[in-house]
Amino acid sequence: MSELKNDRFLRALLRQPVDRTPVWMMRQAGRYLPEYRATREQAGSFLDLCKNAELACEVTMQPLRRYPMDAAILFSDILTIPDALGLGLYFEEGEGPRFRKTVRSEADLARLNSFKADDDLAYVMRAVSTIRRELNGAVPLIGFSGSPWTLATYMVEGGSSKDFAQIKTMAYDTPELMHQLLSLLADAVADYLTEQIKAGAQAVQIFDTWGGSLSAAGYQEFSLQYMQRIISRLPTEADGRKVPVIVFTKGGGQWLNTIADCGAQSVGIDWTTDIRAARQQIGGRVSLQGNMDPSMLFASPARIRSEVKAILAAYGHGSGHVFNLGHGITPGVNPDHVTAFVEAVQEFSPQYHQAD
Ligand code: CP3
Repeated sequence: MSELKNDRFLRALLRQPVDRTPVWMMRQAGRYLPEYRATREQAGSFLDLCKNAELACEVTMQPLRRYPMDAAILFSDILTIPDALGLGLYFEEGEGPRFRKTVRSEADLARLNSFKADDDLAYVMRAVSTIRRELNGAVPLIGFSGSPWTLATYMVEGGSSKDFAQIKTMAYDTPELMHQLLSLLADAVADYLTEQIKAGAQAVQIFDTWGGSLSAAGYQEFSLQYMQRIISRLPTEADGRKVPVIVFTKGGGQWLNTIADCGAQSVGIDWTTDIRAARQQIGGRVSLQGNMDPSMLFASPARIRSEVKAILAAYGHGSGHVFNLGHGITPGVNPDHVTAFVEAVQEFSPQYHQAD
């Protein structure tokens, strides 16, 4: 494999010195880009796009052609695992993801397919190696998975949910069943991320999108514990380089102290957390990723620039910050506003990395 030409993303994750703050965006390949919509059309559907390594590679590269991002992220979805377990993933226009089957009983759990990432999700590994080849060392490639709790919410509810009525009933009334499902998912995610790293992922992110719906005790018991178990099983190096892990719990700002000890090298924070306070609390242990409100991209380029400045100043001097949004980019954003965002990070961040 070729040498990395730009490694500031990997270096910042490990809190090593960098010349400026690296930047990428969660969901950087997606519907806000007209070229993404055209490629999805060509593929037939979103899932067909995920399953075609050449087209998945094409949409991964699209944001990098427009913007000088410091990392690429595998184009796929967190719901590939539940799909491979046999639940039958489909997308209803405007309604988000749905499953034909749900897991709500011991019998449902027993009916799940056995799972081996390199066989059952071979199409994801093909996409990873295709993208690595195409990147040719330009920037690092991020692999990812959902957290067991987040995957379980979709599997138990059968799709997106507001109140999580079904899964919370399971967690509170039949915790043994809940833990059986979460253990099975932790095994699957550890295997899945290990295979992504073997196929060429140079950092991995665990998306715990719905961990923030839990109580403090529930978060520890049903989400964080399993992410910790996964991280402890991952290879720590590939090709002679460390493979950093980023944990992103949306709504996890109150629990940063315990999240910082889960074994991840980096913690993603959403926009409801003050990055200055987060750094004071945990910045000696992990790097931080975030955390501009994704809706700021609807504001004017001038307002976006002032927000980037404010976040850089709040984090302050030194490495250990990966600039990102506090959650994925929204479909209606004007692509030119992303240019303003990325350029502002490039322009205003070098001053925070000069030697004292
Ligand atoms: O960041 C990237 O560019 C990589 C691609 C990526 C996608 N999904 C592509 C996608 C990543 C990292 C994800 C993760 C994901 N998927 C999460 C966790 C991150 C988060 O945003 O919280 C979750 C919860 C999912 C499940 C999922 N997949 C939902 C809720 C949806 C519907 C979203 C919507 O707005 O309709 C998807 C579909 C999906 N995944 C799309 C994309 C680009 C949109 C599909 C389309 O083209 O219409």
